[in-house]
Amino acid sequence: MVKVTIDGTELELAAGTSLFDACRRARGEALPHFCYHPDLSVAGVCRLCQVEVEGMPKLTIACNTAVREGMVVHTRSEKVRRAAQQILEMHLINHPVDCPICDQAGECGLQDQYMTYGLYESEVGKSDKVHKAKVQVIGPRVVLDKERCVLCSRCVRFCDEVTRTGELGIFNRGDRAEIGVAPGHQLDNAYSLNTVDICPVGALTSLDFRFKKRVWLLRSTPSICHGCATGCNVRVDHEAGTVYRLKPRRNAAVNGAWMCDEGRDTYRPLHDAQRLREPLLRRDGALRSATWPEAWAALGAAVGPDAPLGAAVVSPRQTLEEIALFARLAAALGAPTAGVSGGAREADRGEGDDLLRSADRAPNRASLAWLGLAEPAGADLAARVRAARGAVLVYGADPAADAPGWREAVAGRTVIHLGTRRSATAEAADIVIPLSAWAEKDGLLVNRQGRVQASHRAIARPGLALEDWRFLADWLAAAGATDAPASLPDLRRWVAGRVPALAGADLAVLPPEGLVPDAVATGSGGER
Ligand code: SF4
Ligand code: SF4
Ligand code: FES
Repeated sequence: MVKVTIDGTELELAAGTSLFDACRRARGEALPHFCYHPDLSVAGVCRLCQVEVEGMPKLTIACNTAVREGMVVHTRSEKVRRAAQQILEMHLINHPVDCPICDQAGECGLQDQYMTYGLYESEVGKSDKVHKAKVQVIGPRVVLDKERCVLCSRCVRFCDEVTRTGELGIFNRGDRAEIGVAPGHQLDNAYSLNTVDICPVGALTSLDFRFKKRVWLLRSTPSICHGCATGCNVRVDHEAGTVYRLKPRRNAAVNGAWMCDEGRDTYRPLHDAQRLREPLLRRDGALRSATWPEAWAALGAAVGPDAPLGAAVVSPRQTLEEIALFARLAAALGAPTAGVSGGAREADRGEGDDLLRSADRAPNRASLAWLGLAEPAGADLAARVRAARGAVLVYGADPAADAPGWREAVAGRTVIHLGTRRSATAEAADIVIPLSAWAEKDGLLVNRQGRVQASHRAIARPGLALEDWRFLADWLAAAGATDAPASLPDLRRWVAGRVPALAGADLAVLPPEGLVPDAVATGSGGER
């Protein structure tokens, strides 16, 4: 350990700690910077993070300096402030300053630094600036504006060090230096939009998000990506009930600062025409709108003491609490627990890689094992359902689309579908119950590490759709249970008491990096 003093605050830090990180700790905020990024190598090119170290003749950049015993550092002196101002002026000499038409405005490092250190009248006229190419589509998801680039090299380092695809480079020298893709190449890797996130200015922007919404109008809700079993931590940016984009939230134990491009698309189905907004009942051969009292009456007629449930199928895309409560409801309605299934496993498997993406596209499959639920796949699922008598209850899954033999297995039987979309299973069902999509509710997911993470409600449910746990609890109570959960915390306590891996865990407030229960951390439970 070494002792350093920064702006009068004494800190004891591990030897080798970067002075940049030490200053962040002492100041409670980062030094001005463009090129530093905690998950990339140090480039030391923007020169914005200069600090004064007593005993050193010149200012030094903090990102490329390690703390030393007895260091006395000043980050807010007049000398430091003046240096930041001069460096900023250099960055702005050729910058187009087209903030009113720039998508980055409102979350731009250059704007932020100018408001802190700049606020001067520029003596460089627009026509004196070096002009470069604007609006270049450099890949399927990214647009480049070369004039706005401050040559921090973050995007280049990301493609070299993280994806190792190396599409980007800095070409030429001096004021002709510019960012670009190698001739004949495109920025086309599975993580390309992370370059947009880390670009401190509006040089790299997202084709999907461009000009859709001014960022200061957006509200952000912390959540978890539901795109695969990795469970990347994300921020859901939304306004007036519409989600506009997902951005990664840093969690060193799960996704670092990154997420994949495919995961960013998972907000789209929230708002498409396939969403269920009201209960539907089959009448005269077609699905027709119904009221909630009509839907409850239909459920009561389809499943009850004289007509026990035949089989129940649940998707590993539902939350831990929902799957646990659904299994309890299915048992109360007469379906053996073995009838609860993870659904069409093959359909939830895609292409994985060794960075983040899991081949398992279900975000919560680990919960099934924790809850002791069988998970027959495809034709095996259809065979199990065929062998059971009575109505079939499907929650979230779409076996009509991905389980061979499903339609024959349920022919002539009442099918009840609980879900969010007009899927193939919903279209063929007799009773369709509209519930909440992932961004419209709170819930817990267990990722492939066995880490419990919390997903939060960002937007309201559409139309007459209900919150899942409430609907399940109401049906459970209607089926005669006197201890159906009265609230989500109540349900979580019940779940924690039922899952051995979670014994003693408090699911009310999870640590920021998620909860890895002791039984999982020591390898005695769960799926790693
Ligand atoms: S495009 Fe953005 S991230 Fe890349 S070097 Fe320029 S400013 Fe930095
Ligand atoms: S790796 Fe998986 S969890 Fe992470 S962003 Fe991609 S789809 Fe989502
Ligand atoms: S952040 Fe230190 S030189 Fe750029």
